Amino acid sequence: GKGAAMVTAVAYRLAAQRKQIDAALAPFLLSLETLREVKNKMRTELEYGLKRETQASATVKMLPTYVCGTPDGTEKGKFLALDLGGTNFRVLLVKIRSGRRRSVQMYNKIFAIPLEIMQGTGEELFDHIVQCIADFLEYMGIKGARLPLGFTFSFPCRQASIDKGTLVGWTKGFKATDCEGEDVVDMLREAIRRRNEFDLDIVAVVNDTVGTMMTCGYEDPNCEIGLIAGTGSNVCYMEDMKNIEIVEGNEGKMCINTEWGGFGDNGCIDNIRTKYDKEVDEGSLNPGKQRYEKMTSGMYLGEIVRQILIDLTKQGLLFRGQISESLRKRGIFETKFLSQIESDRLALLQVRRILQQLGLDSTCEDSIIVKEVCGAVSKRAAQLCGAGLAAIVEKKRENQGVEHLQITVGVDGTLYKLHPHFSRVLRETVKELAPQCDVTFMLSEDGSGKGAALITAVAKRLHNVGQK
Ligand code: GLC
Repeated sequence: GKGAAMVTAVAYRLAAQRKQIDAALAPFLLSLETLREVKNKMRTELEYGLKRETQASATVKMLPTYVCGTPDGTEKGKFLALDLGGTNFRVLLVKIRSGRRRSVQMYNKIFAIPLEIMQGTGEELFDHIVQCIADFLEYMGIKGARLPLGFTFSFPCRQASIDKGTLVGWTKGFKATDCEGEDVVDMLREAIRRRNEFDLDIVAVVNDTVGTMMTCGYEDPNCEIGLIAGTGSNVCYMEDMKNIEIVEGNEGKMCINTEWGGFGDNGCIDNIRTKYDKEVDEGSLNPGKQRYEKMTSGMYLGEIVRQILIDLTKQGLLFRGQISESLRKRGIFETKFLSQIESDRLALLQVRRILQQLGLDSTCEDSIIVKEVCGAVSKRAAQLCGAGLAAIVEKKRENQGVEHLQITVGVDGTLYKLHPHFSRVLRETVKELAPQCDVTFMLSEDGSGKGAALITAVAKRLHNVGQK
């Protein structure tokens, strides 16, 4: 009768909807074969970055860091650390004790960096940083101390020594003018001089991945890789000197900041980029750059989700076909919201409440779809990140010439730490793609701050750098 016909019609509509949603999400499902391909391509790009003839044009830049060993526990002293480029800007005072009562104590203060400063002039940015340092020194009552300082600067820098770093290009949310091609340590020194209120001994400039590796290396000497899965995505690892063609010398190892976020900038993974990835890239501060980072890190996952939701809404599959003001807003889905939405302990009603907070009115059906979209995007991110990491551990295994490698990866970043599934999928993928490597993941406690201080301590002991 009539009722049966209606039920059939509804079932038919639902099936058609399902088809459209599945079609939108299908490109996010990566087969094992595809992931293997990604791993192999990453390996190729890593090699390009290390070789003299290809490094200049390599998309994975493989930047030497002049950090040549992990800490050995004899580091000690009082240090300042700056941490710029993660979720927050921070100034830290770090006290390291050596010997039997070995310990690290830290005091830190978080400062906001307003958008107009992140995207203003370089001078304004560095003046602002020095203003924050001044506040901190004042607050701690140590303005006259002239402490050694480690600068965690989480952007690609070409280094010629531990205390020099030329910014190759901004990534993530920064775009201050007149910085690219400049030495960031000089810029900081000049800003301190301009202020003419206190003096600091800038000893080291450090990428956050390196700080993370060093912090975990302090506890576990087997830690020779540092991974950040946060606002941005990047890895560093200890490479044999003989493989680093652009640095003199063949003995020992040096830490390489891979800057793997740029993987794919030559189009080599375009086969897996979706139209949503392209939209996110085009709407970003650095179109065409950091393509892998834009598929794997916290700053962009929410944007990919937003693009898919817009598309599904246009197709009439979501939000009653109405694209709201909020959905048009860039950056509404921060990592913490994605993490909440995907939490298995959260009832759908709570998912709807979160969406409500973001200004999105959803039905129960809507919230199921949103959760599914988030899941597809974050799972792909974790798998891609895992494929990249598999390439790194496999390279280390081959370097050491062993059948089986035992290695520890120090990890930090909001995506890894907050997201309910990211870390598990990442680990499973590495296991699947690098079965001969036994990888231990070690969470870093405040790698950027502690690590910068440890590196500063080692650098001071070894080279007596700084003091200019
Ligand atoms: C971006 C930066 C890189 C940093 C990473 C994580 O990829 O270019 O230097 O390590 O974000 O913060």
